[in-house]
Amino acid sequence: MVKLKVVSCLLVVVVYMVLSELAFLDYLQKMFQSPKKYAVDISRRNYMYEGYGDVHQTKGQNKEGLPLCPMTSPLLRGGINLTFPSELTLAKVEQKYPHVEHGGRYRPHDCQARHHTAIIIPHRDREHHLKLLLYHLHPFLQRQQLDYSIYVIHQAGNFTFNKARLMNAGVREAMQEREWECLFFHDVDLIPIDDRNIYVCGSNPKHAAVAINKFGFKLPYDAYFGGVTAFTPQQYRTINGFPNNYWGWGCEDDDIGLRVYMAKMRVQRPSLEVGRYKMIRHNHDKGNSVNRERSKYLVNAPENWKRDGLNKDMYEVISRERLPLYTNITVNVGTPTGLHPPP
Ligand SMILES: *[C@@H]1O[C@H](CO)[C@@H](O)[C@H](O)[C@H]1NC(C)=O
Ligand SMILES: *[C@@H]1O[C@H](CO)[C@@H](O)[C@H](O)[C@H]1NC(C)=O
Ligand SMILES: *[C@@H]1O[C@H](CO)[C@@H](O)[C@H](O)[C@H]1NC(C)=O
Repeated sequence: MVKLKVVSCLLVVVVYMVLSELAFLDYLQKMFQSPKKYAVDISRRNYMYEGYGDVHQTKGQNKEGLPLCPMTSPLLRGGINLTFPSELTLAKVEQKYPHVEHGGRYRPHDCQARHHTAIIIPHRDREHHLKLLLYHLHPFLQRQQLDYSIYVIHQAGNFTFNKARLMNAGVREAMQEREWECLFFHDVDLIPIDDRNIYVCGSNPKHAAVAINKFGFKLPYDAYFGGVTAFTPQQYRTINGFPNNYWGWGCEDDDIGLRVYMAKMRVQRPSLEVGRYKMIRHNHDKGNSVNRERSKYLVNAPENWKRDGLNKDMYEVISRERLPLYTNITVNVGTPTGLHPPP
């Protein structure tokens, strides 16, 4: 199934590139900085922000007069063995991390964070995955000494899942709460394995999930832009956010990759050694069936990207709850015919 998706999305990208007389190989080489070029030199101990030397930094001191956190967090451990306690419940995860503020916010206590990152997780019917992700993601981000919040954007109702609309909604809602410097879009079933994969933004959009166990810890194809990606609010506005018209499963990540390309930006990636993720197994969800129209949309991406995206308001907030480990923002994203489903 995954192979099928990968092949069909990629085919469309290739066809588009050929039709538009763009040299496809050139595209791949130029746009996606190969992770190999960013090979990590652990011996030099300066691997932390490799490739992201241009990350935004906060200047000065905060009200409490705390010093800025070190450039490289001393708490990082590198690769970790992912294990889960048996019979883990959300309540147990909450007990484990009492120092997380309500709404899933955390800031280092002994220094002022250099980076402020919102984690945006599109969600429906994946409570089990969410629990496992929270169990690993909180300590992962804390070891990076970030100031972060976790937003779970929950799609209300039963209609087909629309991940890209949820992510657009997540950005707007998160930015209302705080001027985040970096927006991380995170699949609920991907758990980062190596904490040197720093969740900060750079001068180009970032693709973090370069080495997923499911794809043999390699990129499934060079232009792959799925799983975990990051944009500054400015980069996100430059691509006009994400496309609103992808319902169900497939290709919206390739569309976003194309938007980055068409907006004349490149993609930054961590090395294959650091950008490692484990995908938690699951069966195909109900309500997230394969989108049969997906290739059609992708072909139209060059015309659509300026017309359709962040500029359209395609959701309404149903509820907002500050829970101990995350903020649950439940939104109605409607159906293809509009915000309110047909009767
Ligand atoms: C992970 O587990 C394996 C096998 O138990 C062990 O060899 C390895 O050293 C462990 N790695 C870490 C980082 O703990
Ligand atoms: C979702 O579907 C179930 C069963 O098909 C139905 O009982 C329920 O009312 C639906 N919920 C919404 C919000 O449409
Ligand atoms: C979020 O809130 C909605 C509405 O209260 C609820 O139905 C849903 O289960 C919640 N989701 C999560 C992951 O907390």
